[in-house]
Amino acid sequence: MLQVQNLEVVYDDVMLVLRGVSVAVPPGGIVALLGANGAGKTTLLRAITGLLDVHDGEVTKGSVTLDGEPVHHLRPAALVRRGICQVMEGRRIFAELTVEENLRIGGHTSPRTIKARMEDVLTLFPVLAERRRRTAGYLSGGEQQMLAMGRALMAEPRYLLLDEPSLGLAPRLVEQVRGLIVEINKRGTGVLLVEQNATMALSIAAHGYVLETGKVVLDKPADQLLADEDIREFYLGLTRESFRDVKHYKRRKRWLS
Ligand SMILES: Nc1ncnc2c1ncn2[C@@H]1O[C@H](COP(=O)(O)OP(=O)(O)O)[C@@H](O)[C@H]1O
Ligand SMILES: [Mg+2]
Repeated sequence: MLQVQNLEVVYDDVMLVLRGVSVAVPPGGIVALLGANGAGKTTLLRAITGLLDVHDGEVTKGSVTLDGEPVHHLRPAALVRRGICQVMEGRRIFAELTVEENLRIGGHTSPRTIKARMEDVLTLFPVLAERRRRTAGYLSGGEQQMLAMGRALMAEPRYLLLDEPSLGLAPRLVEQVRGLIVEINKRGTGVLLVEQNATMALSIAAHGYVLETGKVVLDKPADQLLADEDIREFYLGLTRESFRDVKHYKRRKRWLS
């Protein structure tokens, strides 16, 4: 179990950004972390993967534990070895390197293991297999997202943290990324999925958290979050505004005025 307990994070010694956040990801589970821009989602992932230092951030209270053992003092590389990997927001791939070279960087093990892992990852992402010797910078947005995910999978993580993997992707590609997350999870990897696309995230997660200005304001099974109308409108920004609803609403307004 990957567990964040009562976590407080401060940036630049003064800015309190997470105020007592608790989140749990069971082994092999999918958990969604939702919330508006600036709520603290990326900060929470940084705290789990040891990347706060780089951003002048610090855990000032609480803990991150892996199977009960505190891990928030570990370096990022040590966390990768323990099985925690992150795909950062904005798909940080190495644009000048080829697809294969990008994947090799994610390996962290012996050359032989890396070769086997790469074949495995390329099976999971046929698009990348076709473009394995292509320069990564020339891949499309969706392909780059897949490369970033593939690179994280090279380390065979027990837990994969994804920061807004659907951001900026066309609906068809969002669907593809969604399918890949399901597939990765089927192979036994636990997933913490940070998303603005609440519908997508909750459709595959078992549990969801909604973060609001550094606090967890909702902590419920995903189906309950999806079903609740207030939650849909106020927290997830999912209004019932299909085109038909809008037309209906306008007609009603005309009648009333
Ligand atoms: N390196 C940083 N230094 C100072 N403040 C930061 C830093 N990174 C993020 N913040 C602030 O922390 C808050 C949460 O940011 P973030 O975790 O990126 O939110 P989210 O990922 O939910 O959009 C925001 O107010 C943001 O401006
Ligand atoms: Mg973010």
